[in-house]
Amino acid sequence: MQPKVVIPPPGPKSREILARAASLTHRQLGPNQSVPFVLDRKEGWFLHDVDGNSYVDMVTGWGSTVLGAGHPSVTDAVVSGIKRYSLENTDYVFAEPLAVLAERLIGLTPDSLSRVAFEVSGTEAVETAVKLMREATGRPFIIAFFGQYHGESYTGQALSAQRSDFSPRMRHLTPGYLHVPFPHPYRCPFHAAGSACDGVCVVDYIADHLTFHLVSPDEIAGIVIEPILGEGGVLVPPDPFWNALTDLCRRHGWLLCLDEVETGFGRTGRWFASEHWNLQPDLMCLAKGLSGGGLPLGAVLMSEAVAKATTATNTGGTWAGQPAACLGALAAIDAFEQEQILAHVGRLESIAESHLRPLENLRSVGQVRIKGLYIAIDMVYDGDPRRRAPRLARRIHDYAVREGVVGIEDGVSHYRVLPALNMPEELFDLSMEIVARATRAADQMATEEQS
Ligand SMILES: Cc1ncc(COP(=O)(O)O)c(C=O)c1O
Repeated sequence: MQPKVVIPPPGPKSREILARAASLTHRQLGPNQSVPFVLDRKEGWFLHDVDGNSYVDMVTGWGSTVLGAGHPSVTDAVVSGIKRYSLENTDYVFAEPLAVLAERLIGLTPDSLSRVAFEVSGTEAVETAVKLMREATGRPFIIAFFGQYHGESYTGQALSAQRSDFSPRMRHLTPGYLHVPFPHPYRCPFHAAGSACDGVCVVDYIADHLTFHLVSPDEIAGIVIEPILGEGGVLVPPDPFWNALTDLCRRHGWLLCLDEVETGFGRTGRWFASEHWNLQPDLMCLAKGLSGGGLPLGAVLMSEAVAKATTATNTGGTWAGQPAACLGALAAIDAFEQEQILAHVGRLESIAESHLRPLENLRSVGQVRIKGLYIAIDMVYDGDPRRRAPRLARRIHDYAVREGVVGIEDGVSHYRVLPALNMPEELFDLSMEIVARATRAADQMATEEQS
């Protein structure tokens, strides 16, 4: 199957529904929204709109339908789980699928983790992790990094630092978070452009400046970090950063919490991004891919020591850890193994490299970043990293949608794609060709505007 855009979006039915919804929903809807159509249905690797167009799905429910929409064994597991268990509050009335999934997750994740608390979403997983970190250490402050995203709740927003004008006027309500730059050689604030940066500068900044001038180390509970920064543009920390960071954590008794909500479950070519450096965190947050695209599910994994030190903290809630969601997750883990998904991600990564890497020669393309199927094109004006170009990222997106590929423009400066990890090679190849063409067109327009 191929993408097919028969009516330029938004078609008449999409327009009509969007106009009707505009006065009903909190979010401002309209024909100029990033995704300019109304979904009719999702099927495998495709989004179909109500006007008869079909697009390649490069959003996958923001990285949650990792095995495509409606993967048969995940869907069957979820449906039979609902029939058998309906909805249950499993904090109170326990069911076996939670224990089976917990065992499986403990086996898959780093050895340092040995206990699981189930949640509904990534946001809740992060909320819980922060509560656990504070109770375990008795310390209030958490260190997080610029560019990270952790959700829309107060804690999620307080930890996040994507752009200062996203959810403004909230920062003062949630004290206790200290932000530092994410290790980022392309835009390192500690190094002159073009000079080598190994990310250790960020750890030095924490050790020599932040904890000297601002907050003493014994008031800090720990670090929350995305091992590969996702929403912030797919940044892979240089190797030396990790040793320096984990040494500092050890020195001060800080807990290391990895937010693998988006990187977990194969996105970066390994089960978890932490495997690229053999990290042994104290806590790890999971959601999205954990569900296998079945039902919403989040989890916090933690060390034995953290679990023992946090007996007062409640986790979960009415819908956390639904038995049917756990059965879907177990079916997805089986499918990952049987279908050899990680090897397939490697093949698709090479296809992405062959189409997108040459784009780095364009003046408007700051960097192309690819790790597994975590993919971002960072757009800038005139090749200058300081001149971020969200409008150009939006142009790539608009062009690609018209050609039948729906990806992500994030309002920062990146065009991103989050494809299903089992997408057929030919379809992925075609999609990457369209994205490359869209990027060239955006670059061409930028050049013409500036000449
Ligand atoms: C790294 C990270 N953490 C947390 C979240 C929040 O997860 P959810 O949207 O499931 O609440 C996201 C969502 O994009 C994320 O990318």
